[in-house]
Amino acid sequence: MNSVDVDYDGLIPNNVGLGADVRVKHALEKWHPGYINWWKDMGPEGFQESLVYLRTAVSVDPKGWAKFDYVRMPDYRWGVLLAPPVENRKIAFGSHKGEDAWQDVPGEYRAMLRRLLVIQGDTEPASVEQQRHLGKTAPSLYDLRNLFQVNVEEGRHLWAMVYLLQKYFGTDGREEAEALLQRRSGDPDTPRMLGAFNEKTPDWLSFFMFTFFTDRDGKMQLEALAQSGFDPLSRTCRFMLTEEAHHMFVGETGVTRIIQRTCEAMKAAGISDPNDKQAVRKLGVIDLPTLQKKANLHFSLTLDLFGNEISTNAANAFHAGLKGRFREDRLTDDHRLEHGTYPVLRLVDGRIQNVDTPALSALNMRLRDDYVTDCSVGVGRWNKVIAQNGIAFEIKLPHVAFHRHIGEFAGIHADDKGSLLSDAEWTKKRADFLPSDGDREFIESLMQPQFEKAKFAPWIAPPRVGIDNKPGEFEYVKIA
Ligand SMILES: [Fe+2]
Ligand SMILES: [Fe+2]
Repeated sequence: MNSVDVDYDGLIPNNVGLGADVRVKHALEKWHPGYINWWKDMGPEGFQESLVYLRTAVSVDPKGWAKFDYVRMPDYRWGVLLAPPVENRKIAFGSHKGEDAWQDVPGEYRAMLRRLLVIQGDTEPASVEQQRHLGKTAPSLYDLRNLFQVNVEEGRHLWAMVYLLQKYFGTDGREEAEALLQRRSGDPDTPRMLGAFNEKTPDWLSFFMFTFFTDRDGKMQLEALAQSGFDPLSRTCRFMLTEEAHHMFVGETGVTRIIQRTCEAMKAAGISDPNDKQAVRKLGVIDLPTLQKKANLHFSLTLDLFGNEISTNAANAFHAGLKGRFREDRLTDDHRLEHGTYPVLRLVDGRIQNVDTPALSALNMRLRDDYVTDCSVGVGRWNKVIAQNGIAFEIKLPHVAFHRHIGEFAGIHADDKGSLLSDAEWTKKRADFLPSDGDREFIESLMQPQFEKAKFAPWIAPPRVGIDNKPGEFEYVKIA
């Protein structure tokens, strides 16, 4: 067997030679029942017996790694899959630049690496927990299937991190793997580790915004970890990224289809003013200003995931060669960053301004900048759909100082353009920028399930093409 093919013989599909690695195999087999219990308790509610048309990885070859078939979710073959090794791979950045990539954990970086794995690992089950109630209001079988695909793959991402913890971190790795099954999104006593993963995902618009904005943070973190000098982590993240692309596809096309449907309904009713919320809502579709508010919310919550703009943790992880920059391998500086500077947006004397900061300390800021660029490409595609429909409205990313809880701007209020607001002004204007109770109630009123083949809830357009090129009437989920 080569490292592209996946061994499906045992309990845990893998391409890491688990059959010959008795200690780790046993550790994972011991962890497995707890995982299945977690999935049954916290995974998609009400659909565990349904047959879902899912893709499963049968290879890690970039061209063609997936096989589609009906499967009951608890029977999904969650496995441990690493991208093929790069021969002779060298550490590409930091103080060990140019040395051979590590196949084992370097002792001096053990604690730092474990923390990186646990933080990444914690986000994976968290999003499954956040999304567990969505099935019962799915706008179509197509969307229901996509939700479940995202959920099982987040489950697999948890497996990916747990494998690294079990294989390379002995007893403390086992304890961390256990703790990953114990924390719960939104639980007041044992919450998930990061803020955005303790928020609710109450409706399908939130789900699409979450997969667009927050799974994209996932992509950025995985891209940075894929550069790691710790080779098993790099290979793990490289394969996770191929799955992550689908999650962002679900988010981007989900919002696109909502926009499409709204624009069509407005045109049919002869409504040209996108801000005439009441008239648009009467058509049973989501008005564009409400989409803007939801984007504001999810964008700002996700920016908090990048942590403090200036961070010694990020500097240390880079210096150690554990976590690189976005597409480190395509950058053309010295990859050590012991000298240069990077402009960081800071609050100085009550004004938001760029301050040149030692580049090594500014890595969170830099990754966040790359993230914002990546987001704006997707938002541009949404706006193209609005423009093609002849409606004068543009969705904009709010200023990075808007609605923040972590970093430079946590202590202030700013509007969507980055102008500072007093507490009183913020309280007065908040509902202009963020969804109000009324907005939430309206969206909730639309969330009626549509489980008939080939049909879609009236607030969202059908997709252009089916999953796995299936025709429109395909039964993506056989509900049991
Ligand atoms: Fe993930
Ligand atoms: Fe994801």
